[in-house]
Amino acid sequence: GEFAVVPRGLQNVVVDETRISGIDIKTGRTYYRGYDIEDIGRHASFYEAVHLFLYGELPCEEELKETRRAIDKYRGRVPEKLFDALRYVPATHPMYYGVYGVSLLGQYYAPDWSLDRDSMYDHALRVVAQLPVIFLAAWWLSREGRLVRPDPGLSHAEDILRMIRGGEGPVGEREWRALEASLILYMDHGFNASTFTVRVIASTLSDIYSAVAGGLAALKGPLHGGANEAAMTMLLDAKRRAEERGVSLEDYIEEYILEKLRRREKVMGFGHRLYKTKRDPRIPVLEDLIAGLPGGEGWLRVLRRAEEVMWREKRIPPNMDFYTAVLYHQLGIPIPLYTPIFAMGRVAGWVSHYIEQVSNNKLIRPSELYVGEKGLAYKPLPERCRR
Ligand code: SDX
Repeated sequence: GEFAVVPRGLQNVVVDETRISGIDIKTGRTYYRGYDIEDIGRHASFYEAVHLFLYGELPCEEELKETRRAIDKYRGRVPEKLFDALRYVPATHPMYYGVYGVSLLGQYYAPDWSLDRDSMYDHALRVVAQLPVIFLAAWWLSREGRLVRPDPGLSHAEDILRMIRGGEGPVGEREWRALEASLILYMDHGFNASTFTVRVIASTLSDIYSAVAGGLAALKGPLHGGANEAAMTMLLDAKRRAEERGVSLEDYIEEYILEKLRRREKVMGFGHRLYKTKRDPRIPVLEDLIAGLPGGEGWLRVLRRAEEVMWREKRIPPNMDFYTAVLYHQLGIPIPLYTPIFAMGRVAGWVSHYIEQVSNNKLIRPSELYVGEKGLAYKPLPERCRR
């Protein structure tokens, strides 16, 4: 058939239909299974959102109980041998722990993996439930040689924040609910790079664990999930320089950004393939969460100042990573865990896309325009490389 030549990066190229989430670039609204992302971010629990993604509807009482029971049960049932295997990971970038750990899960559960619908849903819930445990067990084992175990009696996001803090003491409700809302806002976002990676792997009918491992590998990059870490690193660098100059960060951030732009550097946490003129609709929820935590008002003034400068200079709006960076800083979360937290939310979207893809599959295999040489003749070694 005919070949369509499309812009590099598949920019603005629609490659398939989906009912999971989508961005209406005219209005800048993003939909989660038909609901406005801001509504779900403000009102749903993690369990309700996971159910919405997997089954396409908000759960009734019974279904919600069942989804919560399954996720909490699985979170508490990470195989002991997986903890043993995580003992030897080096103190490296934790996104590697996700790829490694999920691949191990796939190996342990391979015997009962099948494309049967019920089986897929069961494995989907398991990987959503167990990914945070993998990241945080590996984090503490590699940093302090001690194992921090999950507590399946807690709410999912509450247990995640408890494990991030090393398993000591209770965590404040306002704090873990802020983390929970960010996980929900991170859950899905159309065919972003990591989700499309998952769909490509699903389209070969590889298993769900392999697909999630691929999504994690893609999310790690600073142009995608890694941006929230890069944004906080940048803000703390600016804060340090402002203190050196004896001025406030709010007063200094403009000069700091202008300097980066002069060096033609990207300002992490700004820009988006789809939100070119509209503000990322996930930001208002995050602004309210930041305002509700210590230091929030001050940080919001800095963020708004940065936004004004970037809009005035480049007409580039911020994306949600600029805001989750500050929220996670307020929660005292170490920066290298920011992208793993993004993954702990996005994994619910990935498994939903896996199931949608295999349910009506077509192998994803684009063509290419070969512009290399043709018709070169093989030369035996003695005749080659004659200078
Ligand atoms: C996420 O896809 C998703 O939905 C992603 C996500 C999700 O939920 O999955 O929303 C999560 O990944 C958010 C994006 C996080 N990434 C960053 O914050 C990293 C910084 N952002 C940029 O790298 C960039 O904006 C992208 C990669 C996000 C989008 O890039 P595009 O659409 O390919 O656009 P582009 O890189 O071609 O930029 C267009 C112009 C360029 O200028 P010129 O080279 O043409 O002169 O705008 C400039 C870019 O240099 N530009 C920036 C910039 N982003 C774009 N300049 C300075 N700072 C920036 N952040």
